[in-house]
Amino acid sequence: MRKILFIDATVRKGSRTRRLAEALLNAVAKEDDKITRIKLSDMDLSPITEDVIDLRDKALSVSNFSDPYFDTARQFTEAEMIIIAAPYYDLSFPASLKLYIETISVNGIAFTYGSDGIPTGLSEAEMLYYVTTAGGEIGPYNLGYDYVKTVTRGLFGVKDTQCLRAVGLDIMGADPEEVLKNAISGLEYLKAEQ
Ligand SMILES: Cc1cc2nc3c(=O)[nH]c(=O)nc-3n(C[C@H](O)[C@H](O)[C@H](O)COP(=O)(O)O)c2cc1C
Repeated sequence: MRKILFIDATVRKGSRTRRLAEALLNAVAKEDDKITRIKLSDMDLSPITEDVIDLRDKALSVSNFSDPYFDTARQFTEAEMIIIAAPYYDLSFPASLKLYIETISVNGIAFTYGSDGIPTGLSEAEMLYYVTTAGGEIGPYNLGYDYVKTVTRGLFGVKDTQCLRAVGLDIMGADPEEVLKNAISGLEYLKAEQ
């Protein structure tokens, strides 16, 4: 049994990104996996304040992270597979995902610093799938994925990441259903990898 965390950073009811990410979940999940879904727009995420910095510093100094504020960070760290569904907004992703990353990026839970000042990530995740859809082309500007890859691998210690994308959905004359269908059928290879 693996703990799979599905992080939904989508905004619209009929989100194509969520459909693609659900298809990916369907391709990679095994029957006995424990799947937890969180929807960022339903969470009370807010930018870090001075009070939050004080709460974090105090928790770290006494090694006591029992405050419910830290539950979100712990949930991320304990996940063994992570799927992020994030539409391509302004060359990256919706702001809720940045708020989420700020919330989970807790010294003492997500990572720890060695005496040499180098952080060691504490994530249990072997794989993080980042799923996005874009109205136009993404090309070299996959800034959302590039950032998520760097922070989750470099700081949180996720072992590996992969980006799955469907692009050109809003281009005049495009058939978004066809694009999505092709992207979903392209996920077949993942079943064999599990
Ligand atoms: C606020 C906003 C910003 C967007 N920025 C971009 C962009 O920079 N480049 C692009 O190709 N499409 C952009 N789009 C289009 C979305 O990427 C596209 O419609 C995507 O499929 C939406 O995902 P969803 O169906 O999951 O909501 C943007 C859409 C919105 C609403």
